[in-house]
Amino acid sequence: MDVPARDLIEAFQTHYATEATPAVYRAPGRVNLIGEHTDYNLGFVCPVALELACYVAAARNAAGKLRIYSRNMDESREFDTAAVGELQPAGDWSDYVAGVAVMLAREGYEIRPMDLYIDSRVPRGGGLSSSASLEVSVALALLDGREIDKVALARLARRAENEFAGMPCGIMDQYISVFGRRGAALKIDCRDLSFDVVRLPEAVEIVAVNTMVKHELGGTAYRDRVAECQAAVEAIQRRHPDVKSLRDADLNQLDLVTGVPKMRARHVITEDRRVEEFVAAAGRGDLWEMGRLFVASHHSLRHDYEVSCEELDFLVDAAVALPYVYGARMTGGGFGGCTVNLIKPGRGEEFRETLHRAYRERFGLEPVFYPVKPSDGASRVA
Ligand code: GLA
Repeated sequence: MDVPARDLIEAFQTHYATEATPAVYRAPGRVNLIGEHTDYNLGFVCPVALELACYVAAARNAAGKLRIYSRNMDESREFDTAAVGELQPAGDWSDYVAGVAVMLAREGYEIRPMDLYIDSRVPRGGGLSSSASLEVSVALALLDGREIDKVALARLARRAENEFAGMPCGIMDQYISVFGRRGAALKIDCRDLSFDVVRLPEAVEIVAVNTMVKHELGGTAYRDRVAECQAAVEAIQRRHPDVKSLRDADLNQLDLVTGVPKMRARHVITEDRRVEEFVAAAGRGDLWEMGRLFVASHHSLRHDYEVSCEELDFLVDAAVALPYVYGARMTGGGFGGCTVNLIKPGRGEEFRETLHRAYRERFGLEPVFYPVKPSDGASRVA
């Protein structure tokens, strides 16, 4: 059993003063290699699931309630299982848990009286999908052994975030947390929700670097981007009714769009193409081409999509100036969080020292480095 899981059983027993042995579930965070802000435009993404995961220890109780405790927040909540359908968002971390319970109840799953002990190793606000990993691990815990289709699980977790937590995110984060594959990335088609396994070349190390900032603008800007993309689709549709999302659009149709929506659409259309090119380059083992596509993606996110920030740009520029770095880009929603970097094996230490020093000098902050080892998706821990 992995170490966090064993540790969690003891912590559960102490916290709930019980000798019952809880089941432990794990759902990973993710880093997206390429295909940013394409998921809600029904295009392509190419994420990997991380070893960093959210763990939930869970067992039934005789209290007739759903009781949850977050070790990260050191806070508890209690819900009446019979009244789960009437729960309202509280505006805090517990919404991700309550939202999943509400969505399960809506799907007809009875919410059983249970104790949940939650311990996440995915840094919060780091752009590595701490919320999706929480939703997916909690969903497995509340299902309590009942079967669910994996796509249905990812969709349900996303709905908890969209409809309960109020964040209009796409499906990428929940999907990769469910479907992640050890040693590989997935190319996900966000329209039909199928995926291809993308084997990554052996001769590369992937490193995520956390800026340790999260600019508050993130939430509103995300909503704005969703609306701007919709505006672009509507402008194109007047001439091409078959275009249902930016996934269907091509660059020639951009003449039909003006202003800000045009810039947003240009990013999405070119980014979808970069995902295809990236997957092809990975298949050939062409690391410099993969790196070039990383940099092109970052450039597009910075200038056309306008979701980068000074800290992300600095880390990307500093990384690509190093001769052993193939490419770097921001990953996730933007406005802080992490960059993802492709580097030559064996150069990790040097990379870390160089970027750490430069970043601290510039911003007075300590960036955090995560070696990325693609891991399996969510499951019960044996
Ligand atoms: C956030 C959202 C995802 C996706 C990314 C951007 O992580 O949760 O659905 O839209 O931003 O690619």
